[in-house]
Amino acid sequence: MVKFSVIGGDASSDLAKKIARRLKVPYIKTERKIFPDGESKIIISYIPKKSIVIVVQSTYPPVDTNLLELLSISSKVQKCSSKVYAVIPYMGYARQDREFLDGEIVTIGVVGKLLKASGIKKILTVDIHSKLALKQLKISSENVSAIDGLVKHFQKMKLKNPLVISPDLGGQERAKTFANLLKTDFIALKKHRDRKTGKVNILSNKVEVRDRDLILVDDMISTGGSIVKATQFLKKQKCKRVFVACTHALLVDNAAKNIKNAGVSQIISTNTIPGNSAKVDVSKVISDALKSK
Ligand code: R5P
Repeated sequence: MVKFSVIGGDASSDLAKKIARRLKVPYIKTERKIFPDGESKIIISYIPKKSIVIVVQSTYPPVDTNLLELLSISSKVQKCSSKVYAVIPYMGYARQDREFLDGEIVTIGVVGKLLKASGIKKILTVDIHSKLALKQLKISSENVSAIDGLVKHFQKMKLKNPLVISPDLGGQERAKTFANLLKTDFIALKKHRDRKTGKVNILSNKVEVRDRDLILVDDMISTGGSIVKATQFLKKQKCKRVFVACTHALLVDNAAKNIKNAGVSQIISTNTIPGNSAKVDVSKVISDALKSK
């Protein structure tokens, strides 16, 4: 019989413990020290032998430090284990999935090479930014979705005639899935991002949202720029309340404050990234996918 063990990296230890509990397998903890020069030192409490090891580590900020920890743990345990699988609930660098401007590096491809070189055989991630990003990893990988869990959370809220909105056309499919599960309708806004400055603008004209509660659905919030611009636009159209549903709430710098100031009532996200808005637990969807391996 194949034995599983779960190792939690510093960025995802709580989620890793939940996954181990659901799988009824041992949880192995790690410790990370950061030296004054920025280097990390990682210690694994126990190296499992002849076991399939699942290393759980999201790569949110500090992105490179968390990535290096995942690579280091995997590289160490693969020497004694039969296989190493990486669960990367939030996959950093997934937005760098193509050369938008001449000379840009498709960094998600480089990440894939590093993961492979550290001995990882399979990757499981949650709501990766794009299908292309998954393809660019060039390693056996699976993407699971947190949308069902997010929708269940919103079903418990008393919303007035809810309308699901994608802040950009690229997120239409996600918004459609969300709306279908919530048994309501959806629209997608037209967004433009300046590739050099990163500045966001909403290009849509009038939308019919009067007196409706809105749910802005996105895969991730980083600076909050997209959500702020979309909310300001929608508030001008006389909607009722605006809520945000996203899988990965990075909320860098003052994003949470800026989003609140724009008029958002609440942000609901998942524990792929721990934080105040992380109300939806993805351990079940991840462990169910692992059970079928
Ligand atoms: C873009 O395509 C993504 O789906 C998100 O909308 C975007 O990355 C969010 O970034 P920010 O919060 O910085 O606008």
